[in-house]
Amino acid sequence: MGRKTFVVANWKMNGSYKANAEWLQQALPALRTTRAACDTAVCAPNVYLPQMIEGLLTSTTMVGAQNCSEHDQGAFTGEVSAQMLADIGCDLVILGHSERRTLFGETDSMVADKVKRAFENGIMPIVCVGETLTEREEGRTIEVVSRQLKAVLDTAGIAPFIGGALAYEPVWAIGTGKSASPEDAQAVHAALRDVLAQVDAQAADAVRILYGGSVKANNAKALFAQKDIDGALVGGASLKAQDFLAICECAECN
Ligand code: PGA
Repeated sequence: MGRKTFVVANWKMNGSYKANAEWLQQALPALRTTRAACDTAVCAPNVYLPQMIEGLLTSTTMVGAQNCSEHDQGAFTGEVSAQMLADIGCDLVILGHSERRTLFGETDSMVADKVKRAFENGIMPIVCVGETLTEREEGRTIEVVSRQLKAVLDTAGIAPFIGGALAYEPVWAIGTGKSASPEDAQAVHAALRDVLAQVDAQAADAVRILYGGSVKANNAKALFAQKDIDGALVGGASLKAQDFLAICECAECN
């Protein structure tokens, strides 16, 4: 095993120059002395990526986007490509977040194409999968997340997950304050690792599977203690530097 805990901030469509500068000022001292226990990343809105890349230069914290095009360049008004993210020095990109799937109509195959394109351009993807409340109540959680993961594996293989990560985010837990129990999340993470192992058992063991959905400092420790939970994708609680750092600190107890 030996997977290093990875804590990723997903700021979604939040932030401003001023608020980001304050966040950096508050978080940098702790992020600079990055504990050996934890890798960190901040995924900010595209317009703020240069500010965050520059602001985090003196730390080991990586910077990510929250989406990218499946194309490299061309007549795609409003889109930003992985090639462009690489050009400005971005490290990561969140792909297949449930908000992209439900609000912007991203399908399994679009997500798979984006993962492939990001990886080809040296941008490491954090690939999100997750079931809705109805799917969970119908007992279809494993079926749904396996389908979402397999679509990516079929197109892009397992390699993108090794530098990047897989994130299990139950849709009903995102922004609701209702986190999955550590045991329930662990069961899904183990099933996801089995799907990865069907492609390559050794590589599957190295893939970090993050949990996302109402992660806070008060539940992160119990989540990180689970065998197959290798970190967190944090939305709301990542907007305040102190709350984000408190979650990172939970990795030390691991
Ligand atoms: P949340 O969001 O932590 O606010 O639930 C997580 C996410 O959407 O990545």
